[in-house]
Amino acid sequence: MCASCGNDGTPLYKDASAPVGKRVEDLLGRMTLEEKVGQMNQFVGLEHIRKNEASLSEEDLKNNTANAFYPGFSADSVAEWTKKGLVGSFLHVLTLDEANYLQSLAMQSRLAIPVIFGIDAIHGNANAPDNTVYPTNIGLASSFDLGLAYRIARETAAEMRAMNMHWTFNPNVEVARDPRWGRVGETFGEDPYLVSLMGEETVKGYQGDLSSDDVLACIKHFAGGSQPINGTNGSPTDLSERTIREVFFPPFEKGVEAGAMSLMTAHNELNGIPCHSNEWLMEDVLRGEWDFKGFVVSDWMDIEHIHDLHATAENLKEAFFQSIMAGMDMHMHGVYWNEYVCELVREGRIPESRIDESVRRILEMKFRLGLFEQPYADEKTTMDVRLCETHRQTALEAARKSIVLLKNDGLLPLSPEKYRRVLVTGINADDHNILGDWSADQKPENVVTVLEGLKMIAPQTDFVFVDQGWDPRNMSRQAVDRAASLARTCDLNIVVAGEYMYRGRWTERTSGEDTDRSDIDLVGLQNELIQKVAASGKPTVLVLISGRPLGTQWAAEHLPALVNAWEPGMYGGQAIAEILYGQVNPSAKLAVTIPRSVGQTQMIYNHKPSQYFHPYAVTPSTPLYPFGYGLSYTDYEYSDLRLDRTEIPADGSVKVSVTVKNTGRMAGEEIVQLYIRDRFSQVTRPVKELKDFARIALEPGESRNVEFTVTPDKLKFLDKGLKPIVEPGEFIVMVGPSSDDRDLLTASFFVR
Ligand code: BGC
Repeated sequence: MCASCGNDGTPLYKDASAPVGKRVEDLLGRMTLEEKVGQMNQFVGLEHIRKNEASLSEEDLKNNTANAFYPGFSADSVAEWTKKGLVGSFLHVLTLDEANYLQSLAMQSRLAIPVIFGIDAIHGNANAPDNTVYPTNIGLASSFDLGLAYRIARETAAEMRAMNMHWTFNPNVEVARDPRWGRVGETFGEDPYLVSLMGEETVKGYQGDLSSDDVLACIKHFAGGSQPINGTNGSPTDLSERTIREVFFPPFEKGVEAGAMSLMTAHNELNGIPCHSNEWLMEDVLRGEWDFKGFVVSDWMDIEHIHDLHATAENLKEAFFQSIMAGMDMHMHGVYWNEYVCELVREGRIPESRIDESVRRILEMKFRLGLFEQPYADEKTTMDVRLCETHRQTALEAARKSIVLLKNDGLLPLSPEKYRRVLVTGINADDHNILGDWSADQKPENVVTVLEGLKMIAPQTDFVFVDQGWDPRNMSRQAVDRAASLARTCDLNIVVAGEYMYRGRWTERTSGEDTDRSDIDLVGLQNELIQKVAASGKPTVLVLISGRPLGTQWAAEHLPALVNAWEPGMYGGQAIAEILYGQVNPSAKLAVTIPRSVGQTQMIYNHKPSQYFHPYAVTPSTPLYPFGYGLSYTDYEYSDLRLDRTEIPADGSVKVSVTVKNTGRMAGEEIVQLYIRDRFSQVTRPVKELKDFARIALEPGESRNVEFTVTPDKLKFLDKGLKPIVEPGEFIVMVGPSSDDRDLLTASFFVR
């Protein structure tokens, strides 16, 4: 009997009651170098390979970050490697059937180490069919509802485990600072504090106590890719260490603190070093400063890009070397890794102990998530969890809470008695594009389009639908003219415009991953459609479906009502209709500033004091809509801002209170925001920074005292030497319904 076997000869690593650390060491001790290096490698699923080798050329593969196959190798080769225990993980496996099948191959391997399935479950496990589709992160952030973020992550974890998925490539905790960048929709917006808290709840929701009901979270992309030069995904970022530490790092640090056990590095180079070979990021900061204990995964073929794009490695093998030695643990995805990395170890360039470190981190997660005990999910019960009624209700609630009312000249809520015949048109009026980026095809019965939602909520209304097709680039002038002429016969117009994000038409999208733009206007004939329809003289409502802020200045100036619904998910159409007809009182607030035009980029609320010292000539320097802004059908009055003291020591706290009253006629939920400015400081500080918020429900006439506590961590900043300090001096406290100065009550206190 071997030393590390139980009485019945079962190896220790198979003993579920043994401590995880011991199981890991036992298993590691049994593994060959090839098996270890295999654990560090991921592949796309077999069905994904088969589909793409039939439809893509090798040329197409070069800059495609969504689809792959392996030229020269078939799906069968990958299946063989899995059986030999040379594959640690799969991604892009979209059915339980395939997941269980691939797992069965892994279970035939010598040591029967299960594979961990990763998937981009960004807003629910939407990237696979037949799952609940919640609003994307930008909408969720607009709810400012942290409990909701937690709940959605919990439900997503349950749906993932029900289809044998163990690891989501979310939350994306990048701070979005450029609306041209196509990935704004998968972020929690522009504010480091809000992004941090949303990210924290999401990590906690996914991971629970990291056991067999939970999934592994992956905070991504580390770091700086959300402020890419020219706004294009993966282009270089050149950021001072101060900006990185003040703006981009806090959500990652918070994610690590919340227990995130995986992290994905970013496509981009950061100040001249590719993130995938950036030792400062992975070792010094992540592991050294923040004590991260999980594993780092590369992004899609980005280790390869150290060689073939960034050109800091002369060949692929060198790229693998640089990445591993800088702290990388797992390779997404592909062939050659196993061969070259084993060679690097045999040549003595990478110590085997370095490989062991990575394998330990990966195996620990597999053990903790219960994969060894529960490698499969049950086909018979999978649909008891996925799309269950509770999850659907959460998706609806989230959509209701994520839709921002930007303008209302008294037209909304709509009266069905007054507007009997209503024109509905626009590319997003009757399309599943409302599901948003990172969503697969979902069955029609699981999606409510805007047109369907309107018919459901206002059944007595005669909705006249004019189809504009799905494709904003190829709209027909005939259809536009038809809508314009029918508008004259209607009492009201609803135009549902925006971006196109559907992944199934990867190259025809206008927003989403790898779909960046050099402007932020509506694409195609959409503006013309809005203007022609509005020229009917009938009131026109514009509803925007989009993952990025859109510069719709004409509409904002000329139309009576404007609604930003972001990417609202499966029940987006219902929630939009409920809001338009006043069955739901809108409550969401913008998690990003909406600029007037692309020329205002970078337009953020937490800019430095000198930003608009010289305002733009000709056009305004103010945004179209500020961060934190959003209307309701009721009115809220803020009064009586009080501080419990006006002087504190550097380690002291101040209690801030404000009275908020619902002075209108409808019950509602208000998002009360607290901003702080450090009046004078040794380095320049933003004009204001969000430091707290509360979402409160108020009946008509009801008022509430809302309390916040300003603690030292809300006052600290990085001094000239980048060390955190709380500096003596005056701090201004601002409280109100948005970040706009005109909306804020102010008071101040001193740190002595
Ligand atoms: C994206 C990642 C994603 C990965 C796998 C990459 O192109 O940047 O965010 O997790 O693909 O789909």
